[in-house]
Amino acid sequence: MARRFESADVRKEQEVPLRASLDGPYRSSTDEEHDWSQDADYENSHYAKSVVSEAGRRSKPASAFRDRGDGRRGFFGQKHRPRRTCTIITVLFVAAIILLLTGSGAWVYKSAPKDGESPSWYPSPLGGTVSSWQESYTKAEALVKSMSLVEKVNITTGVGWMGELCVGNTGRASEAGFPALCLQDGPLGIRFADHSTAFPAGITTGATWNRDLMYQRGRAQGLEARLKGVNVLLGPNMGPLGRMPAGGRNWEGFGPDPVLQAVAAAAVIRGIQDEGVMATAKHYILNEQEHFRQSFEWGLPNAMSSNIDDRTLHELYVWPFAESVRAGVASVMCSYQMVNNSYACGNSKILNGILKDELGFQGFVQSDWLAQRSGVASALAGLDMTMPGDGLRWQDGDSLWGSRLTVAVLNGSVPMSRINDMVTRIVAAWYQLGQDDKEKWPAPEDGGGPNFSSWTDDETGLLHPGTDDNATGVVNKFLNVQGKGKDSHGNLARKIAAEGTVLVKNEGNILPLSRQGKSASSVEKRMSTPRPSSKYNVAIFGEDAGEGRGRNACPDRGCNEGTLASGWGSGAAEFPYLVTPIEALRSAFDPEHVELSEYLTNEPALDGDAAKTLDQQDLCLVFINSDSGEGYISWGGIRGDRNDLFPQKGGDKLVQSVAKSCGGGKGDTIVIVHAVGPVVVERWIDIPSVKGVLLANLPGEESGNALVDILFGDDDASGRLPYTVGKSLEDYGPGGQILYYPNGVVPQQNFTEGLFVDYRHFDKYNINPRYEFGFGLSYTNFTLSNLVVTPLKPKSALPSPRPTGLTPPSYDETIPAPSSALFPPGFRRLKKYVYPYIESTKQVKHSPIYPYPPGYHTPAPLSPAGGGQGGNPSLYDTYAEVQVTLTNTGARTGKQVVQLYLSYPQGVTDSAGSPVDFPVKVLRGFEKLELDPGESSEVKLNLTRKDLSYWCTIQQNWVMPVTGTFVVRVGTSSRDLPLVAEF
Ligand code: BGC
Repeated sequence: MARRFESADVRKEQEVPLRASLDGPYRSSTDEEHDWSQDADYENSHYAKSVVSEAGRRSKPASAFRDRGDGRRGFFGQKHRPRRTCTIITVLFVAAIILLLTGSGAWVYKSAPKDGESPSWYPSPLGGTVSSWQESYTKAEALVKSMSLVEKVNITTGVGWMGELCVGNTGRASEAGFPALCLQDGPLGIRFADHSTAFPAGITTGATWNRDLMYQRGRAQGLEARLKGVNVLLGPNMGPLGRMPAGGRNWEGFGPDPVLQAVAAAAVIRGIQDEGVMATAKHYILNEQEHFRQSFEWGLPNAMSSNIDDRTLHELYVWPFAESVRAGVASVMCSYQMVNNSYACGNSKILNGILKDELGFQGFVQSDWLAQRSGVASALAGLDMTMPGDGLRWQDGDSLWGSRLTVAVLNGSVPMSRINDMVTRIVAAWYQLGQDDKEKWPAPEDGGGPNFSSWTDDETGLLHPGTDDNATGVVNKFLNVQGKGKDSHGNLARKIAAEGTVLVKNEGNILPLSRQGKSASSVEKRMSTPRPSSKYNVAIFGEDAGEGRGRNACPDRGCNEGTLASGWGSGAAEFPYLVTPIEALRSAFDPEHVELSEYLTNEPALDGDAAKTLDQQDLCLVFINSDSGEGYISWGGIRGDRNDLFPQKGGDKLVQSVAKSCGGGKGDTIVIVHAVGPVVVERWIDIPSVKGVLLANLPGEESGNALVDILFGDDDASGRLPYTVGKSLEDYGPGGQILYYPNGVVPQQNFTEGLFVDYRHFDKYNINPRYEFGFGLSYTNFTLSNLVVTPLKPKSALPSPRPTGLTPPSYDETIPAPSSALFPPGFRRLKKYVYPYIESTKQVKHSPIYPYPPGYHTPAPLSPAGGGQGGNPSLYDTYAEVQVTLTNTGARTGKQVVQLYLSYPQGVTDSAGSPVDFPVKVLRGFEKLELDPGESSEVKLNLTRKDLSYWCTIQQNWVMPVTGTFVVRVGTSSRDLPLVAEF
């Protein structure tokens, strides 16, 4: 039975910052001290990385940005009116305020979020309990012991937006010898950097279902980041999971199934971290849509709340984070929006409780950029690092931490144990990744540190562009980190893009094509009876085949121009080059045999001569696409989240008209779709002349080459769908719909569909998708046989008792003298740069006492599901081994993904006797294999205790049903599961 978090004590987490401003050391996160009139600048300042137009900085085309148009600046910002008018307005204004305050209480700018349901979880668990981190914690303890309070605070707080060269920069502890860290996006490449790779997006990587490629991608990303001087890479992205297929940032992650998402995320993390770079699992958690994700971005003072029950949270959305922690991820980024009406970065249940206690996370929690909405409260709730260090607004130089955190420690509001743990976690993560190795990570004075600037493409530029400092220096060293020769990361990007291309329709085996024409067989036919007058005629249609306005036409790829190879936002990267489909096709087709015509537009004039040309085509390739991205950019009416799942820019119409007229109606049409996620293809998929369809996702810089590899069969078509392609957006159910309009002062998004997202929803409601999750065609045939399930251990309901962890470091907790935290005499301060120092010892007041949240003084019970990285280690014991034989029965070498789905026993009841509802089936394992014709191979997949359990909200633990039978289904898609066994 699903249970919502029941204790309604969110108020503490919402009200604490408000009260803190009245009687505590911190400024309020509410309007008392907030100048709302400035907020129209919000997006621009977030974007200032590429907007500042002074010499040496980037400039932003205005078109890429949403026009807020909410009149807020006008309402609050009118300054010069005649005195009488002014008086009348003031009176009316005050009256309106009184009316509103005494009325419904719904006055948007005064409303604190309504009370939520997220329970409290205190105190914040200390890091240093897991043996694989022991050495790093021992070293960290020694270093932290030598740090002063201001040094400690400096490490936890970013220096402010554009304060240094990376998108996030921490301060250093010079005396103790701990460096400033560079934190840089992102999930598919190094944002704002030159000479680095624009890899295929997460969704494309998910579509490969290839664990090795996932790892290799992470490895290459990690290497590039290290060579560029990036300590912390802000990826991979596994939240959004993809609850809503139109979610703007789904493409950054690996698809809406928790297991596929988790396997990919963990592999990428291992890869990144094997190169010594700290990876970041983001965004924790439930940031499933862009609309209302962030305070002020959408004209509302508060972000939306994603409201979820405990079981769904565990079984779906936390799952990839659990695997990331198990993979040893160094950092987790908490998300912008609220979870059960507490901001994610100040939500003690999800940070202290689930992440640090239950999942045993040993690294540090950093906030998403400006996701921190309170000072003391977020520190107590488990936040360890604030990014980019600014306060409630971009570049306000008014951090919620920095000197305020220093004061909060000095007056006892934030315990010494908490600040020590915050710093120890960061320092331990740094040691854990070997970043104390001076050869790999030289100090800035020895040529180390970031060797690129996020803020200019010029060689020299401002060193602290977000401040009043005019100091300049060499900021871009233009280091090429893309690898060389056979190790060039372009080769890897090409492989991933090719394997991430999903062939969903191949009538009459139209694909693979021959370089001399259509398919090899048809060319042979034609060669024996050659058409006297002409070559084989191929026409290419669609803007998406070409270059458009250039590969980096819009900052952060914030527009859909030319071929689509990435979504937009902070998750995008600069393209060092982009092989367009048209370029690759021009060199792929043999000009002796093939005549190529190009119509790189979505509105070709298909009359007159063009109609005649079209009449003569043997084959037409049509390119269409669908784009989306992060919510601070709006393009073509799309504010982050897509408005629908149809192809954009008239793609449907283009396919329809080409399919109708290609070869006078007798030609063959192949459609190639580049998209951020599922696209509804119903408007043309059944047209008989549409013989082939490739869903090529977002292929990155090697787009055209990868496509050619598949179109011409140089590689088998081996991509499989990492999402369901429904026949309509409505088919994904009410839970699959974006909340486009606010339904309250604090918009509420209720995840009432529970576990039933994507294929689980289609299964439960018996809806036929167009193409199911896991589906994709090969150029060869495979059969599966000999399914054997071997139970390795008897079923048992609960995991072993939680093991006791190691003893975390301990410190002298004496609060230092306030005078030790004063600005050093003669210190030169930069405007808006965030410092840990205080102005005067008078800032440190000891009364009134900080209003700690209810429950703060009663330690929460430790979770029985905890005790190791990723949770109780016994959750990962193997309970059954599944074995199956895969045979390539076709005529060519090919790759297949063997997929294992599990159905839970019928009639399961929980400890209170209530029935437990399960999805029809859930993916629990997969393996991709390459086989030659006639070759067979055995595949082994394991089922762990966690795989066989559900999250019991009463026992607060993973429970394995011990009666009844599990059904194991093995096949090649979620709806093609020929082999079935029970145990
Ligand atoms: C995004 C993060 C990103 C950060 C820094 C935020 O807007 O949500 O994913 O890492 O900016 O650029």
